[in-house]
Amino acid sequence: MQINFVKSEIPDEGALAIGAPEGDDLTGVLDQIDKQSKGAVGRALKASRFTGAKGQVVEILAPSGVDLDRVLVVGMGKPADFNPGVAETVGAQTVARLLASGEKSVTILIQLPKGSAPDIDAEAAARVAMGALLRSYRFDLYRTTQKKNDKPTLAKLSIGTGETADAKKAWRSLEAVARGVQFARDLVTEPPNVLYPEEFAKRARKLEDLGLEVEVLGEKDMAKLGMHSILGVGLGSERETQLLVMQWKGARDRNAQPIAFVGKGVTFDTGGISLKPGPGMEAMKYDMGGAAAVTGLMHALAGRKAKVNAIGICGLVENMPDGKAQRPGDVVKSMSGQTIEILNTDAEGRLVLADALWYCQNRFKPKFMVDLATLTGAIRVSLGLEIAGLFSNDDDLAARLLAAGKAENEELWRMPMGERFDKLIDSPIADMKNIGGAFGGSITAAQFIQRFVNKLPWAHLDIAGTAWAEEARGSNPKGATGYGVRLLNRLVAENYES
Ligand code: BES
Ligand code: MN
Ligand code: ZN
Repeated sequence: MQINFVKSEIPDEGALAIGAPEGDDLTGVLDQIDKQSKGAVGRALKASRFTGAKGQVVEILAPSGVDLDRVLVVGMGKPADFNPGVAETVGAQTVARLLASGEKSVTILIQLPKGSAPDIDAEAAARVAMGALLRSYRFDLYRTTQKKNDKPTLAKLSIGTGETADAKKAWRSLEAVARGVQFARDLVTEPPNVLYPEEFAKRARKLEDLGLEVEVLGEKDMAKLGMHSILGVGLGSERETQLLVMQWKGARDRNAQPIAFVGKGVTFDTGGISLKPGPGMEAMKYDMGGAAAVTGLMHALAGRKAKVNAIGICGLVENMPDGKAQRPGDVVKSMSGQTIEILNTDAEGRLVLADALWYCQNRFKPKFMVDLATLTGAIRVSLGLEIAGLFSNDDDLAARLLAAGKAENEELWRMPMGERFDKLIDSPIADMKNIGGAFGGSITAAQFIQRFVNKLPWAHLDIAGTAWAEEARGSNPKGATGYGVRLLNRLVAENYES
C-alpha cells in the first residue's frame, strides 16, 4: 500500500474517511461534505444514530452531489480522551472496511478535537498510517485459488494533515516499527514444515542488510558450552537446534553496556514424549512467538537506527517425540551447572530460556534482560487473550514495561513471584524439577526461569495468550499479532536511547 501525507482537503475520487469526535455537530470537513452532498451525509449519520462514540462506523455509498464512491465516518470517542492511539484506530478501522471492498484509494481526514495540542496533528497522522499498514497485513503466500473478490484492492492511502513534513518524519520511524511487526508476524504465520530452527536463523541472517551483527550457534557449539537444557529439548527432532545471537550497536559508544532481549523459539511444540492431545496441536507453530518478537524488535531498532546497544538472543528448537527424544525422569545439566529433573517434556520453554538467559548474561553483561515466551496455557486461564503476564525482580523495569504496554495497546499485568512459589519446583533428585504442581502454573514457570538469572534486573513476559488472535482487534488482523515488538520498541525509545 502506497502511503502519502497530504493537505487536509476533500478528495475528488475514491473513498473519503473522516475520524469524528463524539458529540460534535457537523463541523470542519464533515460539514463541508454534508453541504456538498446537499445534506445526505448528515441524514445518513442521523439515520444510523451516529454519535461519534468509539467503534462506530457509518459507510455511505455514492452520496449524491459528490464524485466519491464512499464516505466513511468513524467515531473517535470523547474529545478529552483523544490521543494518537485513537487516530491509529481510525486508520485500522478504515482499512478493515475497505481493504478488499473493490475500492482502490482512500483519503483519511482526522477531525482533531478543539483545543488539541498543536504538535498532535503530525503524530496523529503518522499513527493513522501505522494502524492502516498494520491492519492491512495479509499472508497469502500459499493460496493459489483465491477468488477475485477476496483479494485486496486498496492500494493508495492519503492522510490529511496540516504538518506534512513533520508527519512524514514521524512516519519514517513508525514505519520501521511496523516493518518489524510484519516481519515477526510472517515468522509466526509460516507453517512449521517451512520454518524450522535453521530456516528461522537463515531469515534472521538477512537482517545483516539493516546493519545488525548476526551469529548462529549450532549443536556442536552449544554442547561445548554445556547447554544441555536446550539441547535436551531438541533430541527428538531431525532438525538442528540453533542459538541465534543478534547485536545492534547504535549508541554513540559502540562498546557501551547493552540491553538484552531473549526469546523462546520452539518452532513446533508437540509436547515431546509427554505428547499433547491432537485437536488444536497445529496452533503450536506459534510457539516461537517470543523469538519472533525479539527478532522483529531488532528489525525495528535497526530500521529506525535507534541510539542504543541492544542484544537479541533466540533459542530455536523443535520439540518432537522420537526414539532419541528425552524422557520424563531424565536429568539434564544446564549451562549454569544447575541440574534439572525433567518431569514433563511439554514444559520445554523454560528449558530453552534457562540456557539462553545464562548465555546472554555471561557473555554480554547487559543492563537488564527481558525474555518473551509463549510459555504456559495457565497464563491464558489467568489473564485471557488480550493481556500478557509480566514477572519481574525489579520494580523500575516492571513499571517501564507496564507504561510502554499501555501506550502501544500491548498490555501487561504484573504477576506475583517469591519464595513460597519457588519451593514448589524443588526436586528430590536434582537441583529443580521442570514443573510445579497443579496450581499457579505461570508463576512456577517464572520461578524456574529466575533461577537462571543472576543479580541483574530481569523481566519475563508470558505471551501465550497474546501472540495469536482468534479475532481481529485494533491494528491486528486475525492471526499472528507480533505482540511485543511495539511494546519493547517503546521501552527502548522512552528510556534507553542516548
Ligand atoms: N507452548 C506451551 C504453552 C502454550 C499453550 C502456548 C497454549 C500457547 C498456547 C508450553 O510449552 C506448554 O506446553 N506448557 C505446558 C506446561 C505444563 C506441562 C507444565 C502447559 O501450559 O500446559
Ligand atoms: Mn510445551
Ligand atoms: Zn511450548
